[in-house]
Amino acid sequence: MSYNINDQLDYQSSYENSLNNPEEFWHAIANNFWWKKPWEYVLKYSMSEAQFSWFKEGKTNITVNCLDRHLEKKGSKTAFIFEPNDSGQDSEHITYIDLYSRVCKLANVLRKYGIKKGDRVCIYLPMIPELTVSVLACARIGAIHSVVFAGFSSGALASRIDDCSAKLVITSDGAFRGNKLIDLKSIVDESLRSCSSVEKVLVVERTFQNISIVEGRDLLLRRELDLVEENCEPELMDAEDPLFILYTSGSTGKPKGMMHTTGGYMVYVGYTFQNVFQYRENDIYWCTADVGWITGHSYIVYGPLLNGATSVLFEGIPSFPDFGRFWEVIDKHKVTQFYTAPTAIRSLAKESLSWVNKYSLTSLKILGSVGEPINDEAWTWYFENIGKKNCPIVDTWWQTETGGILISPLPGITKLKPTFATLPLPGVQPVLMDENRREVSGNDVSGNLCIKFPWPSIARSIWGDHNRYKETYFTAYPGYYFTGDGAMRDEEGNYRITGRVDDVIIVSGHNLGTAPIEDAINEHPLIAESAVVGFPHDVKGNALYGFVSFKDGVENSDLKTLKNEINQFISGQIGPIAKLDKIQFVSSLPKTRSGKIMRRILRKIAEGDFSNFGDISTLLNPEVVEEIKNNSL
Ligand code: WTA
Repeated sequence: MSYNINDQLDYQSSYENSLNNPEEFWHAIANNFWWKKPWEYVLKYSMSEAQFSWFKEGKTNITVNCLDRHLEKKGSKTAFIFEPNDSGQDSEHITYIDLYSRVCKLANVLRKYGIKKGDRVCIYLPMIPELTVSVLACARIGAIHSVVFAGFSSGALASRIDDCSAKLVITSDGAFRGNKLIDLKSIVDESLRSCSSVEKVLVVERTFQNISIVEGRDLLLRRELDLVEENCEPELMDAEDPLFILYTSGSTGKPKGMMHTTGGYMVYVGYTFQNVFQYRENDIYWCTADVGWITGHSYIVYGPLLNGATSVLFEGIPSFPDFGRFWEVIDKHKVTQFYTAPTAIRSLAKESLSWVNKYSLTSLKILGSVGEPINDEAWTWYFENIGKKNCPIVDTWWQTETGGILISPLPGITKLKPTFATLPLPGVQPVLMDENRREVSGNDVSGNLCIKFPWPSIARSIWGDHNRYKETYFTAYPGYYFTGDGAMRDEEGNYRITGRVDDVIIVSGHNLGTAPIEDAINEHPLIAESAVVGFPHDVKGNALYGFVSFKDGVENSDLKTLKNEINQFISGQIGPIAKLDKIQFVSSLPKTRSGKIMRRILRKIAEGDFSNFGDISTLLNPEVVEEIKNNSL
């Protein structure tokens, strides 16, 4: 690969080049990959129609770039080091050849059961090798994978399966998570009661617990793999053929199935992995995210494999068997690049430093952060105690929608500034917008963050609802992609992301829309209405505060039981990650005359800031503000 940025001059010239001649720039980057047939043009797009087409008519298969291409020279190199949940169990080294044959075999099983190009396959698995194998097996035959994080409940799984009419689900009997055993298969069974599109369920055996098997629908993967061949011809994909759907929260109850396509995603993710992590041949890279999120898709599965890298794949959690687990794994596998989330850093920084100091951590060269703003304290703790002041921290800003990292320092190249994601990567043109929807010029300014020009891995649509895609991202600021984040730009042009400016709240690095949580609460028979807002939390970054009103005539309820029930409803509909930390019962919610809940006031109350509620004259029921304030938790 010849696309590495090596120093600051390189960065500057690449950046300028990418702005002045975007097509030439990306043409040259794309040439680092294998294509069966070259593209006819690099880019055609319309921001107003939310249409993007990169490398059209170029034919490839991303798995050939991730696997086949490496076999000759790197076949016996380790692709993944699987580190199981139980630290007493051996880790497993999976070479590129092993991975290739496992992917081909699973792809053959999928083909055998009628899965073909364009069909949707839902993957609901713990962080075990079969998760990455399943993702790649789908890509091998052109099936569109939709991975659902295995912490989601049956309700959330069902709505995602339904939304994309998945034909097949890949799951496991169960999952190990710390000292817990999770019944994944029964969650799938539960959700399939209401999904008619699914014909087959492939079950990976991980925990070997008892499961029920639905005859004619459920198949044990182990048995199926014995019956198929080791080779599987890759499906030839157009650069614009869909590669995957990944759901993210939105401002209405329905999750948004962000759709990514093949060519642009491949080029951008391969390029940014190499540069943001400055990957070198013998490095051992470890990203602690789950493949169920975009970070796992782009920087556990595709980015590292496209570059022939070796990565750690970790099944466990940071606190099991003790708070030293991350640091133990780093020493054990001599990890050179370590990429995690601020919430994990904050939770570990709370524990005794002796957990860290038991380990040398001398193999580390580069640290990364992703998913939410990293506060100063967490940044400094990470830099000093984990990186020993020797490892640059790449604070990478991006989104499910962007496919890959857009703003990040390049380690050893960009001057670091704690809590700042710093500068855009080549090809990325961030701008800040004011209330009048105009670009804010100059430096030392703030505004809503938009991107002015397409990059290759921008999502192409929301599955089944292009209009919603257009509305959500391309109408607030005509001609721009709107990120939903607020940001500031310092005197030197560095960006700092300040947080969401819409109804998405990031809790422990997970994006949660307030609407689906409110929908779940409102299903409770005694509840009339609810509003959920975020408030700052030491470890989670944000936690959830719910304001809830009763239906008329409900009296004398046991409030404690009711609070538990509300959280059970949320857990069942979405998952335990969306449970509320605080629940306040109110006589009614503050509403404007047009019936809109005034969240701005509730947000202030949740934050404990009663100083100035701004203009409340448009409220239908201003008296309720005082009541809510006085009873706040
Ligand atoms: C937030 C995760 C500050 C942001 C890759 C964004 C960040 C949302 C950072 C997307 C960062 C992500 N600094 N905020 N380095 N990285 N965010 O779709 O609000 O799960 O819009 O993608 O996370 O979350 P998503």
